[in-house]
Amino acid sequence: MTEPHSGAAMTSPQAVRPAQAEAVVPTAARMRSAGERLAGLLRAGDLVVVSGPLGAGKTTLVQGIGAGLAVRGPITSPTFVIARIHPALRGGPDLVHADAYRLGSRAEVDDLDLDADTDRSVTVVEWGEGLVEDLAPGYLHITLRPAPPPQPAGPASPTAGSASPGAEPADLVDPAGGTAVPEPGDEARLVTVTGHGDRWACAAEAIRQALAGHP
Ligand SMILES: Nc1ncnc2c1ncn2[C@@H]1O[C@H](COP(=O)(O)OP(=O)(O)OP(=O)(O)O)[C@@H](O)[C@H]1O
Ligand SMILES: [Mg+2]
Repeated sequence: MTEPHSGAAMTSPQAVRPAQAEAVVPTAARMRSAGERLAGLLRAGDLVVVSGPLGAGKTTLVQGIGAGLAVRGPITSPTFVIARIHPALRGGPDLVHADAYRLGSRAEVDDLDLDADTDRSVTVVEWGEGLVEDLAPGYLHITLRPAPPPQPAGPASPTAGSASPGAEPADLVDPAGGTAVPEPGDEARLVTVTGHGDRWACAAEAIRQALAGHP
């Protein structure tokens, strides 16, 4: 994985370790809930880069972010359109949702003029790793990957807010609302959220709580 280029602050002796949190998200419904809660941390000017293989659930997560920001939908996987602006319905920031899958270079990113909207929007870019990180002074990097198989039952308790696909139904109740009862096709994802730059330097606990499902 490419380490993002975020300038001198990352390499200076005073560089702060990026704020990071991780959780297993067992269903698509819970991925949307996680996005909704993470939206509570976002404000105009923020940049979010979402990484993960094809079909990992990136757009599903962005749908949750859109719901949390209360923007006009629907949020879909773009086919021909690479970036869409979803206007705020209740006065918060707009959501700019871009999919950089078909973009091969920084020049093509520049052609999208994403920076024209970044100040008044939350900008979320799928497949943007290595291409868009410098659109804002800091960014939230969310990585989705297949979750490792659940641990056999034992005395160790799972990380707060995570739930394995084999968990008891009571463990699958999302504290932020809704349940995580698996639908056909649901597969657990390991979600890692890393905040880069001063904007996120003190946000580790807030990110952890948002991911874990605590209000
Ligand atoms: N735990 C999960 N989290 C998110 N989506 C899940 C999960 N389990 C199953 N899914 C399903 O996986 C699919 C993910 O599709 P989605 O379009 O969100 O992926 P994507 O990463 O954006 O794909 P692409 O790489 O094409 O942009 C959806 O059909 C969703 O219902
Ligand atoms: Mg997508």
